[in-house]
Amino acid sequence: MDHRIYFDNNATTPMDPEVLEKMLPFFIEKPGNASSRSHAFGWEASAAVEEGVRHLADLFKVGEDEIVLTSGATESINLALKGLADTWKGIKNHIITCETEHSAVLDTCEALEKMGWRLTYLKVDQQGHIDLQELKDNIDEHTLCVAIMWANNETGLIHPVREIGNICKKHQVFFMCDATQAVGKITTHPQDLGIDLMAFSAHKFYGPKGMGGLYVRKSKPRVKIHALIHGGGHQDNRRSGTLNVPGIVGMGTAAELALRQMKTDEVRLRELRDHLENRLLMEVSETKVNGDREDRLPHVSNVVFKYVDGEQLMVKINSVVAVSSGSACTSANPDPSHVLLHMGLSELDAKASIRFSLGRFNTLEEVNKAVDMVVEKVAELRAESPLWQMFQAGVDLEI
Ligand SMILES: Cc1ncc(COP(=O)(O)O)c(C=O)c1O
Repeated sequence: MDHRIYFDNNATTPMDPEVLEKMLPFFIEKPGNASSRSHAFGWEASAAVEEGVRHLADLFKVGEDEIVLTSGATESINLALKGLADTWKGIKNHIITCETEHSAVLDTCEALEKMGWRLTYLKVDQQGHIDLQELKDNIDEHTLCVAIMWANNETGLIHPVREIGNICKKHQVFFMCDATQAVGKITTHPQDLGIDLMAFSAHKFYGPKGMGGLYVRKSKPRVKIHALIHGGGHQDNRRSGTLNVPGIVGMGTAAELALRQMKTDEVRLRELRDHLENRLLMEVSETKVNGDREDRLPHVSNVVFKYVDGEQLMVKINSVVAVSSGSACTSANPDPSHVLLHMGLSELDAKASIRFSLGRFNTLEEVNKAVDMVVEKVAELRAESPLWQMFQAGVDLEI
């Protein structure tokens, strides 16, 4: 039996077995192209796509024609921001985002900056929150769009999307929300909250990798975006390319399961996460949770083990426990997390921080086993750490 413990669900979730089961026939027995109109294989593929999209529309409480299917959140974010910018170029020239966004947003914004767009990066406080007054103050008549994520991938912090939506509406700017980490974990109804574009990715909510989508508001206001990918005119010319039928079936099933199971998952995972966090805080001295502990996704905990090198800690535990020190997309990069640095952590503390992200299949037994191991390994590392010894001797290491 696999004894490994997977606590890196913000990087990606395992697929739910029910999702795989629904996808399998569409690889061999039902191979149709959803655009083939002349035979039953095509019709059954097209019906499966429609059903998948319907489940997503139900999860988001939006219209089926408001969803564009993509390869994942990165593509969706590119489509939203570049597609919007291309539609409005020459009329607007300014976009507002936040310093703690995922690289999918930050790098897309940087690309737009190179094309001549003016970018404003909102700062965050120590808890990870933006200042809504700063947001209002930065909107001017040239502002096209505000791009703020729903929940942060590293800390789980939930931004006040309703308030941001209201500000955007009042000033008539578009609100693009990267909801990649929120979808399937908490309720995500973009229309209720003034969100005009919302990016999501199936593999973050127990669906397949390489599959995602973008919600694009159809009325009040109707949002127009130019396509990034041209070809056969699929999806109303919004994103060409043969539809990934098994992927769409998988994402739709994952959405159906989320709708059914989200509340139960939320309660159970919050209990497990709180147990993990409380034990770590009680059993390891000089340990703190990074960011706001209230406005937070239920399954995420980002903890700083002071005077411990996070990378070394991960090396000591990673044959059994999988955690991470930042975003999976930047995990090849040894620099400390930009999110934690922007929240005001020192480089030392950012490097001493570990993200635990739990998921639907984790158990209390796994939490206890992982905590036991972390407690033991932190003690081992501190016993060998000159920094820890200096701290014990009363040297102020914060200066
Ligand atoms: C907040 C956030 N946005 C965007 C992405 C990109 O998602 P994908 O890799 O599925 O394109 C991720 C993935 O880690 C994420 O956490």
